[in-house]
Amino acid sequence: MNKGFFITFEGGEACGKSTQIKKLKDYISAVAKNDKFVFVREPGGTPLTEELRKYILNYEIDKPLPMTELLLFCACRHENVYKNILPALNEWKIVVADRFYDSTIAYQGAARNIMSMEDILDLTKKIIGDVKPDLTFYFKLEPEEAFKRKTGLGELDRIEKEGLEFHRKIAKGYDYIASLEKDRFYCIDASKSIDEIFEEILRVLKEKLPQIF
Ligand SMILES: Nc1ncnc2c1ncn2[C@@H]1O[C@H](COP(=O)(O)OP(=O)(O)O)[C@@H](O)[C@H]1O
Ligand SMILES: [Mg+2]
Repeated sequence: MNKGFFITFEGGEACGKSTQIKKLKDYISAVAKNDKFVFVREPGGTPLTEELRKYILNYEIDKPLPMTELLLFCACRHENVYKNILPALNEWKIVVADRFYDSTIAYQGAARNIMSMEDILDLTKKIIGDVKPDLTFYFKLEPEEAFKRKTGLGELDRIEKEGLEFHRKIAKGYDYIASLEKDRFYCIDASKSIDEIFEEILRVLKEKLPQIF
């Protein structure tokens, strides 16, 4: 049970997570509640993990093996939880994370099949204990639509089509974890406009945290 409140933003590529987090940040600074919030992203959040982020996401010289990639994400999460997220929650703060362990279940579990989704959940428990989001905004977007946003093009080439299969598996992973942990998942139709989605997010936050929003 968290003392503060832990919110995560999840979903595939280009579904609008970072856009909405930025809007939330702006909203919070406008209403001067900055001191109650801590924003984190994965991988990252500490000097070491921000450095590792560059290698995990963009290192072309020596691609990590799939299991290495999984463990690097887990190592970064361990750092982020014990150095940032837990201390903030223990001070009754609201933590907002751009991705968390559901991403590992979806990407490394369902899509890459490095280990089963159940095993990733077990491993996660060993790595971060009982820390769990109180609320997860799950952005659902058809992979075709996400690709169009990324490339700005209508037609998909062969590699992008291959990517579609990968993204369908990611969606399956999210649907799996959402079905296991229904209480914390709030599903967003990410094809709506940026403003419509933000209104929806604010409405949910007003319901969950009436003293803040
Ligand atoms: N609701 C939306 N409708 C149309 N385009 C969007 C929407 N939300 C975000 N975008 C655009 O899609 C791209 C990816 O958004 P981003 O927030 O970076 O996604 P993510 O963080 O989920 O990968 C950006 O160019 C952004 O401006
Ligand atoms: Mg993003």
